[in-house]
Amino acid sequence: MQTGLAGRFVVFDGPDGCGKSTQSRMLVDWLHGQGVETVGFRDPGTTAIGEKIREILLSPAHEAMTTPTEVLLYMAARVQLWFERIGPALQEGKCVLMDRWLSSTCAYQGYAGGFGMDKVLAVAGVSLERIWPDLTIILDVDLKTAARRLNRELDRMERKGDGYHGRVREGFLKLAEGRPDFSIVDATASPEAVHKGVVAAVQKMVEAGRHF
Ligand code: TMP
Repeated sequence: MQTGLAGRFVVFDGPDGCGKSTQSRMLVDWLHGQGVETVGFRDPGTTAIGEKIREILLSPAHEAMTTPTEVLLYMAARVQLWFERIGPALQEGKCVLMDRWLSSTCAYQGYAGGFGMDKVLAVAGVSLERIWPDLTIILDVDLKTAARRLNRELDRMERKGDGYHGRVREGFLKLAEGRPDFSIVDATASPEAVHKGVVAAVQKMVEAGRHF
């Protein structure tokens, strides 16, 4: 397992309230238990520039922000994160575990926001050094369960309403269709049951020996 996970790029993604943070923590612990050197980052954020961009994106004061502006800001934060942290960590043979990635821009701005997934991919193509991770785990959750988990003050993206967030979920499922580098895990179950599904997806990637 150790060698199979060195230099691998794994992403957790899904609708708001899908339980990414809990599952990231559980997977990091599991990977450390397997002797795999792992680093975890959040997108948008992690770098000084990325955290400032995150603040701009999520501030409820910025109601006027257009979808194309969102696309460019999310991408800018990601470019910086790759350059400062992800690229170097993968080079050092570490396993990189991401909280969100380009799959979010596809589902939120591309699909739910109507910008178009193809256009998101075109922007990514001219901005990012690497577009797709080795494995993207989509934690799939229905709107009701997700809303129950978000019992705090909502940020600008979370306030976009049920219609938008229903389309976000649909967008993730469409993006994952027929792709061996994506795995959909039912995230409505208990954290332990979801973790089992996540570990199974990681083991499958290692067994398949896939590198993207
Ligand atoms: P987080 O709270 O899960 O870290 O994500 C921040 C918010 O930004 C969340 O509502 C999802 C949204 N988002 C996008 O709309 N597009 C993106 O490309 C990313 C990475 C996040």
